[in-house]
Amino acid sequence: MKTIIVTGATSGIGFAVCKSLLQAQYRVIGIGHTFDHCEKAKTLLRTEIPDQEVEFFYGDLMQQREVHRIADQLSEHIEKTSDSCLFGLIHNVGCVRSWYSTTEDGYEQQFALNHLAGFLLTHRLLKYLKNESGRILLTSSQSHQWMKIHWSDIMFQKGYHPLLAYKQSKLCNLLFAYALNTRYPSREIQAFCIDPGLFRTDIGNKKTGKLVSFVWNLRKAGGVLPEIPAETYRFLCDQKKNPDGLYYKNCRKMPFSRQVNRQNAEQLFALSEQFCNIQFGV
Ligand SMILES: NC(=O)c1ccc[n+]([C@@H]2O[C@H](COP(=O)([O-])OP(=O)(O)OC[C@H]3O[C@@H](n4cnc5c(N)ncnc54)[C@H](OP(=O)(O)O)[C@@H]3O)[C@@H](O)[C@H]2O)c1
Repeated sequence: MKTIIVTGATSGIGFAVCKSLLQAQYRVIGIGHTFDHCEKAKTLLRTEIPDQEVEFFYGDLMQQREVHRIADQLSEHIEKTSDSCLFGLIHNVGCVRSWYSTTEDGYEQQFALNHLAGFLLTHRLLKYLKNESGRILLTSSQSHQWMKIHWSDIMFQKGYHPLLAYKQSKLCNLLFAYALNTRYPSREIQAFCIDPGLFRTDIGNKKTGKLVSFVWNLRKAGGVLPEIPAETYRFLCDQKKNPDGLYYKNCRKMPFSRQVNRQNAEQLFALSEQFCNIQFGV
């Protein structure tokens, strides 16, 4: 049985992806923010899809200390239950903010959660992914299309613009996936990004101001149910051979921004290594 980890698994698309993967008989490990949300999600999944293996771990992935703690727990769990093999790592966790706020490491929160958390967790779990020619999937967004990396001030410390910080974090997802695929060309791992389109969740209502919350309520009403974009994650996991392409929507390969190139990918990769105080090997 193949094991897949999903972050941001207690609601929205992460929860829908867990459900779909369990129905397809994968062993699923969900990562959530709080103990209560994880317990609720686990109970719902076990009731709806009995006889499948699902486990949850929780913590604040915005904090690097917490990513390391969860990675320790996951490593132990993977070694015990999955023969040290990880087939899939789905970086889906994400947040929206209305104002400049930082993590305990001093990093802007959208950048820290939407990009650095996945970067660091991948580094910690890479050896298990390599053991099974694993796939890394990242939840990006079409909003990456009109962005450039703000190299001179990547955390938008001077003149914070929450929407630009969000869009940039979604461009970072593509650059990270691109960099992984050039670094590991033997396909011992392969990374993909997904544009889920607009779907109905409360992401814009969590820790945001009244205006962002109001606008998001109007916008999300036009979105689809998360079960629809969840199909693309399952599609990418189900393919026997690694599919080609980097960016998918509705189970189809899509074009992406020209900003997603080797130079930007390598620059972001090196900077992210510094921010996380790590070095990826070859
Ligand atoms: N909704 C859309 O239309 C849309 C469109 C494009 C891309 N996306 C992307 O889709 C992804 C999932 O978002 P969603 O819309 O499904 O939102 P969501 O329902 O709010 O899901 C976010 C998940 O992340 C968890 N989370 C938030 N902060 C966390 C933290 N600090 N540490 C650990 N876990 C944390 C949440 O748990 P708690 O609720 O317990 O905090 C929840 O499980 C995000 O990457 C988002 O950027 C969404």
